[in-house]
Amino acid sequence: MANVVVIGAQWGDEGKGKVTDLLSKSADIVVRYQGGVNAGHTVVVKGQTFKLHLIPSGILYPGTECIIGSGTVIDPEVLLEELDRLDELGISSKNLLISQTAHITMPYHRLIDKASEDRRGSHRIGTTGRGIGPTYADKSERTGIRMLDLLDANGLRESMQWTIAYKNEILDKLYNLPPLDAEAEIDRYLGYADRLRHHVVDASLKIYDAVRKRRNILFEGAQGTLLDLDHGTYPYVTSSNPVAGGACVGAGVGPTIIDRVIGVAKAYTTRVGEGPFPTEMQDGIGTVLCDRGAEFGTTTGRQRRCGWFDAVIGRYAVRINGMDCLAITKLDVLDTLEEIKVCVAYEIDGQRCQDFPTNARQFARCKPIYESLSGWKRSTEECRSLEDLPKEALNYLKFLAELMEVPIAIVSLGASRDQTIIVEDPIHGPKRALLDSNGQPVSKSA
Ligand code: GDP
Ligand code: IMO
Ligand code: MG
Repeated sequence: MANVVVIGAQWGDEGKGKVTDLLSKSADIVVRYQGGVNAGHTVVVKGQTFKLHLIPSGILYPGTECIIGSGTVIDPEVLLEELDRLDELGISSKNLLISQTAHITMPYHRLIDKASEDRRGSHRIGTTGRGIGPTYADKSERTGIRMLDLLDANGLRESMQWTIAYKNEILDKLYNLPPLDAEAEIDRYLGYADRLRHHVVDASLKIYDAVRKRRNILFEGAQGTLLDLDHGTYPYVTSSNPVAGGACVGAGVGPTIIDRVIGVAKAYTTRVGEGPFPTEMQDGIGTVLCDRGAEFGTTTGRQRRCGWFDAVIGRYAVRINGMDCLAITKLDVLDTLEEIKVCVAYEIDGQRCQDFPTNARQFARCKPIYESLSGWKRSTEECRSLEDLPKEALNYLKFLAELMEVPIAIVSLGASRDQTIIVEDPIHGPKRALLDSNGQPVSKSA
């Protein structure tokens, strides 16, 4: 039995949806623990594409229970659209449960998100405009409305009347926007409550029961390590904690129940929105990766910025998440390249630096130091074992694993579930090597 956390090791969109779907085969429960409808997780099975924003990527397995945890923020309108879409595709959501303590994204959150981005001008974050930051801000400010409030019609009416009056003042005085019609919004949200009511539970209790019955739980992160509110490239981050530690708070479990952390990283790097990105490509290769990797946001359709693999942020993600092994995705996107660069360190103000600088001003001044490897110039899309891979592709993977000091357990070579090489058992296989007191790696048998 193993309880596993899947996290993004870069700036999001690493392929967490694909990896979670793969691992869900051996999970009894899949829990989304943070984020909201800013996430877009894609799962492709037998030519059919599923784009999930809030529903855990385990939903395609009929026997798997899927839980939207307390650390998420829920936009009921989008969630219901997602449920309808799954229904049209013949996927049942009878096993979907929603934490009663998850906060709800309200119409004013979206309006304020967009208006505050406009006001920031050149300092904008490049948010998804889905109201995520303002929903989490209200949670911290203790004016948020939660799923359990949605189920109590009188309580909801009272809370919404009060908050909408308050937010209308902000919309008017700060942003010069028209007010929301409180009664119309209350009726709309009461309608959502009717449809969602039977999914709402005490999620932490459900998960704890499952833990005691030794069922396998998979925790699905959204966004990525560098978008983490505390540990990412602040202020160009999201408003939750995508890192593995966030799984405990967001699902309502203690850290002692987590057995393993799997990091998902692309074989290169992408970023959507604003903020420093040391390995960003300014040349035609970026366009090649964008085209071959179809690098357009699942949620907003925005073009993703593309760059070479950055092992400095990779090592940082290993540290911050306590990562045990890696899933490297989109290796196939590099198939046509003659030469592939990897950022092994940064130069900051003339000094070589191996560690990610958490000081945002320093990070903005980092220049990548690259090592170059030969490309393989052959399609890898049909490869199904390491032996099938060109030797240059194997060298590349080995180089990444050495730089990041974690084993690679999964290699992904296409969007489909079957375009995958399982190198080591990602759930029960080897963990990252620890060092002995002399700083030497401890052998597996030690
Ligand atoms: P997530 O947010 O981390 O789940 O990632 P997204 O779904 O937003 O973005 C990843 C995109 O890459 C999706 O369109 C996937 O279908 C696709 N994808 C995942 N793995 C691979 C892969 O190995 N190769 C290729 N070419 N596409 C992949
Ligand atoms: P998944 O789960 C990539 C980015 C936005 C913006 C910043 C803040 O699919 O990997 P927000 O709307 O959260 O306030 O925006 O975070 N961002 C993502 N980038 N993948 C995501 O999710 C993202 N969710 C938010 O582009 O830069
Ligand atoms: Mg995504």
